[in-house]
Amino acid sequence: MILEVKNISKHFGGISALNNISIAVAKAEIVGLIGPNGAGKTTFFNCITGIYRPDAGKITFGEYREEITHFAAHRISERGIARTFQSARVFASMSVLENVMAGTFSRTCGKLWGTLIRSRRILEEEEAVRRRSEELLRFVKLNSRASSLASSLPFGLQRRLEIARALAAEPRLLLMDEPAAGMNAGEKQELLEIIRKICAQGISILIIEHDMKVVMGLCQRIAVLDSGEKIYEGSPQDVQSNSKVVEAYLGKKRDASKS
Ligand SMILES: Nc1ncnc2c1ncn2[C@@H]1O[C@H](COP(=O)(O)OP(=O)(O)OP(=O)(O)O)[C@@H](O)[C@H]1O
Ligand SMILES: [Mg+2]
Repeated sequence: MILEVKNISKHFGGISALNNISIAVAKAEIVGLIGPNGAGKTTFFNCITGIYRPDAGKITFGEYREEITHFAAHRISERGIARTFQSARVFASMSVLENVMAGTFSRTCGKLWGTLIRSRRILEEEEAVRRRSEELLRFVKLNSRASSLASSLPFGLQRRLEIARALAAEPRLLLMDEPAAGMNAGEKQELLEIIRKICAQGISILIIEHDMKVVMGLCQRIAVLDSGEKIYEGSPQDVQSNSKVVEAYLGKKRDASKS
């Protein structure tokens, strides 16, 4: 297992957002995280990435199972965990290419940006970052838009840009928070292909998604959260036919205004 989350809990005042949740992800595995609005899915990501400190539990990462539970967010990113956000977050006033270049920050921090002396080596490094970023833009099929302003991209393409930026940090685990939200059928299909290709490179993926076609088409394993509890974990087929899951999630109408 590359990621092991054991018994984490997180409270906000009287709300138990996560209660004793354990989920593990293997190398190059795609695990789905589903559940109704407010189930605790994004909070789970925020605990893994160091945005929130879990109140209890333990998170380990990597082949040596290093404990990262209370690491600061930048250290977690350095270890190889990247994420995309529920509502795409791009640097609006930067170009598409600059957005991806900025994603290398956790790798090049202190070397590339931390000096005022633009030595030959620094310039070479910057050139390498540029080439790698262009390669990532080709990977998500955004190379023709490299010099456009990020804010000028339609929403579906901004989401793809966010994926390229996350990959620029060279993660071993990618956390994706509802990547298909707001996409049309064609964009979803392209997204599925991109995610499969990321996985084929040996990168593990934990994906929160409400679109069942996307979840069922991608995931080897699915965990289901409801009101901060993990109510089920199993194969896509088992999850779909489990009565607890159907009752908690599939039967409930989504609050369409939220994503
Ligand atoms: N910073 C915070 N302060 C207070 N309460 C919070 C905070 N973050 C999350 N919560 C609460 O924790 C619970 C879980 O929220 P979370 O955003 O993790 O749900 P979710 O499963 O991602 O839902 P959605 O599908 O709507 O994105 C909710 O009741 C939410 O209001
Ligand atoms: Mg959420």
